[in-house]
Amino acid sequence: MTARLLFVPFVIGSLVAVTLGVYGNLHTPTGVAVNLAGFSGPQTVKVWLATLSALFAIVQLISASSMYGLFGPGAPSWTAWLHRWSGRIAFLLAVPVAVHCLYALGFATYNLRTVVHSLLGCFFFGVFTVKMLALPKKGLAGWVLPVLGGLAFTGLIALWLTSSFWYFTTFGIRF
Ligand code: HEM
Repeated sequence: MTARLLFVPFVIGSLVAVTLGVYGNLHTPTGVAVNLAGFSGPQTVKVWLATLSALFAIVQLISASSMYGLFGPGAPSWTAWLHRWSGRIAFLLAVPVAVHCLYALGFATYNLRTVVHSLLGCFFFGVFTVKMLALPKKGLAGWVLPVLGGLAFTGLIALWLTSSFWYFTTFGIRF
């Protein structure tokens, strides 16, 4: 039952991940850069947007843990609302960063960090797609959404580690 319900979301999620990877490989990076007032350059804009996205993802993880009873029975009534909105904001903050990565930089292979980062970027959007398509499905086994949510969270935090964290530990914490 669960496997049948997850088949289409899995196929579409895989197509999203592969399409981003193929585009990132075939597309000639443009190098275009958009800076925002108050930042020293486009890279720091991305570094801080990705950091904010990771922070909202942590709020999403904590609210999900509360909904699944990890902090004791009965989560406050607003927890589901907090979970949904922190997830939406985390995703919306990640999209412009990823658009710049793919359009301006492409799928990079010049060192292990950028290969892993590029693969994680495709994986994140793929697994996020599977989770969003699986969410409305009735009859899924209880472990499916926590596992998909956990994979999306891990993907985003690993993306942050291979980019913003690398930037902060290489160039220091700056705007
Ligand atoms: C969708 C697929 C993605 C691809 C192919 C990709 C690829 C890249 C590449 C090639 C760089 C330059 C690395 C360097 O030379 O330092 C980069 C930088 C960056 N990426 Fe991505 N990325 C993707 C998604 C994401 C996502 C979803 C986030 C965060 C939410 C992100 C955050 C960053 C940040 C903050 C930088 C700048 C710091 C740095 O230079 O490493 N990327 N990305």
